[in-house]
Parts: sequence; C-alpha cells; structure tokens
Amino acid sequence: MDADESIPLLDGLATTRAIRRIAPDPIPESDLSTILWHATRAPSGTNRQPARFLVLRADERSRAAKALLARAFRDGWADKRRDASYDAGSALDPTSPKGRSRAAMEYFVEHFEQIPVVVLACLIRRRRPHPFEGASVYPAVQNLLLAARALGYGGVLTGWHGSVESELRTLLEIPDEAAIAATVPLGRPLGHHGPVRRLPLTDVVFDGGWGAHADWAVDPPGTRFAGPPPPH
Ligand SMILES: Cc1cc2nc3c(=O)[nH]c(=O)nc-3n(C[C@H](O)[C@H](O)[C@H](O)COP(=O)(O)O)c2cc1C
Repeated sequence: MDADESIPLLDGLATTRAIRRIAPDPIPESDLSTILWHATRAPSGTNRQPARFLVLRADERSRAAKALLARAFRDGWADKRRDASYDAGSALDPTSPKGRSRAAMEYFVEHFEQIPVVVLACLIRRRRPHPFEGASVYPAVQNLLLAARALGYGGVLTGWHGSVESELRTLLEIPDEAAIAATVPLGRPLGHHGPVRRLPLTDVVFDGGWGAHADWAVDPPGTRFAGPPPPH
C-alpha cells in the first residue's frame, strides 16, 4: 500500500478528491482501524459522540447489503444523469470535466459490489430531526476520508442509500433511533487524488458584511477553479 502518512495536513485538505474508481483489493483491518480511529476524533456537540459507523466488508450479510446499495446507486446515478443533462453537451466529450465525471460515475455504479469497504455513517438521534444534527456526524465523515487519503485510500460521501433504506435497516438490524447520514465507499483509488476545483475565494468569503469583498482572502497561485454547479 502506497501509504503517505507524511502528507502535510493542509496538502491533504486541498487534494482529497471524491474517489469513485475503486480497486477491489480489501483494506487490511489495521488500516481500517486507523481510519475509523481518526474519524472518531472529530468533534460533536457537547462531545456527545452520536456518530456510529457500520462497516460493510465481504461477509455474506455485508455482500447482500452491498447488492442492495448497488441497485440504489444505479438508480441514483440514472436520475442524476437525466436531471443534470449528463447525456448531452460537454458530458459527451470524454476529455471535458463533465465527461470525466460521467465516466467515473458509470464505473462507480457498475462496479459497486466489488468495492471492498462501504461505511454507513449513522447518527444516534436523541431528539426529533434537527437542522443542525448533521454537524455531529459529517465532520467525522470528512475525517474518515482524510485519514483514508493519508493511508493511500480514497472514497466519497454519498446519499444514494435512500431508495433501499428500509430494506437495509431490516437486513442490518439498524435501530430506529439511528439515522443513516451517509454511505461512504472506500478502497484503493484506481485514479488519483489531486488539487480539487472550487469557487474562487472572492465568491465565497465576505468581509464584515454580506457581499463585502475581502481583499486579504487570496487563492494561492495554481489554484484550480470550478464554476457554479448546474441547477439540479
Ligand atoms: C452532502 C454531499 C452529498 C453527496 N452525495 C453524493 C452522491 O450521492 N453520490 C456521489 O457520487 N457523490 C456525492 N457527493 C460527492 C460530491 O459529488 C463531490 O464531493 C463533489 O463533486 C466534489 O468532488 P471533488 O471533491 O472530487 O472535487 C456528495 C458530497 C456531499 C458533500
């Protein structure tokens, strides 16, 4: 495993991409343990630590869960492909960003069952659904992805489990008080991590009032940008 535990923290933050082309090789248990330990270092409200991680690997029940999820992911991608015009325009050019994204998505959903590890990041609810509750689980998901990156792996935060959630809950005996916050496939990337593309700082950082330009907030040289997302 080409682990790179020496990667500087800020470089890791700037270069951890969504990885959807994932090799089938299993993740050694010691690496999985390290990844989950770092995930659980994330903060939560009042340090209540309501996040739980259900790890699906290669046992019979996990394989059945992955098969359910594969169906949901194929449906999720089919909807997105239609709604976000992935069958037209620049998406048909395999060298364009949208064309590359389309190819990665196709690979992802077609090979979903072979992904070695799928983590269901769950949240134990102590009260009714609340707009802020995700703040006690998503930092852990990002820590998980960054820790995976540090060890030479990759993955992606997804929300495509919804259409099979009730079957998944029954199969895996997930209690009612646990919400499934994200489904995170993990494994060795077949592609590469690298600088992510985001909006320029001038578009997203305001100084002292909404819309006020922050002239001190400057993208470093070489920053790669992405335009605003499509309307869907
Ligand atoms: C809240 C959230 C939901 C997401 N849902 C999905 C999803 O359902 N399927 C998927 O393939 N990627 C999903 N992603 C991954 C994003 O598409 C990805 O992080 C984004 O396009 C940026 O990619 P990059 O980090 O490689 O630049 C999600 C990310 C976030 C933060």
